[in-house]
Amino acid sequence: MSILFELADVTVERAGRPILDRISMTLMTGTRLALVGAIGAGKTTLLRTLVGLETPTSGRVVAFGRERRVETDFYDVRTRAGLLFQDPDDQLFSPTVIEDVAFGPLNLGLARATAIARAEATLGRLGLSHLSTRITHHLSGGEKRLVSLAAVLAMEPQVLLLDEPTNALDQTHLGRLTDILTGLSVAMVIVSHDRLFLERLATRAVLLKDGHLTPAYLHRHVHAHDHVHVHGGDSDHEHRHDGAGHGAHADPAIRST
Ligand SMILES: Nc1ncnc2c1ncn2[C@@H]1O[C@H](COP(=O)(O)OP(=O)(O)OP(=O)(O)O)[C@@H](O)[C@H]1O
Ligand SMILES: [Mg+2]
Repeated sequence: MSILFELADVTVERAGRPILDRISMTLMTGTRLALVGAIGAGKTTLLRTLVGLETPTSGRVVAFGRERRVETDFYDVRTRAGLLFQDPDDQLFSPTVIEDVAFGPLNLGLARATAIARAEATLGRLGLSHLSTRITHHLSGGEKRLVSLAAVLAMEPQVLLLDEPTNALDQTHLGRLTDILTGLSVAMVIVSHDRLFLERLATRAVLLKDGHLTPAYLHRHVHAHDHVHVHGGDSDHEHRHDGAGHGAHADPAIRST
């Protein structure tokens, strides 16, 4: 296991207000980290900070073994960590789907034919080949969401930063997305309000509240069936199942300050 990302005492402010308040966390290889929190808690801000789209007022961002400070430091980070934007319209800007999905690989320096082949293969894996020649702008919300994911996966990133990936998906595509993501060995940070999705996918969880990250725990235990619950550090809602079945407490994924 090695560290992919580390935030150390990071503060990000907006309009003079700290959205992230001296946050520290690490993301290790092999981890699928659920990032939960209320609307407006700063989850998107945290993901954007990891790839340099927000500039901390204090603290350190370390990615792939190097501290990253200025915009140019993050070029390399953005090729290795794929951010699925909360709003697909922020992700997709090419006239057609295939061009949008091939854009990342082209940007990585692949030859056009290779980039297109990789884009087609990625669309195929997601069951989206039929959308290849469609005009991106005309896609439905759910189609845009999946094509955005294809655009991120086509870059074959080492880390996936997924900002509400299940938004606008029907049950069929939700199932397919879950299967695809569980089949990948890359590390992930997954922001979602969909608890069932997180319970199936995440190996660890953290709660963002009032600018702070709280260790959260995954509990695997037996009811009539075996599943994982995500519990935040919010004491009003915290409940434990220590006696039930085989409690498998995950280590906290964060070091809070
Ligand atoms: N450009 C901006 N200028 C000022 N405040 C902003 C800006 N963008 C976001 N904010 C504020 O920063 C806070 C954190 O926003 P963020 O988008 O990170 O929250 P979030 O946890 O992702 O919420 P959601 O679950 O609704 O996506 C919110 O209060 C939001 O209103
Ligand atoms: Mg958000």
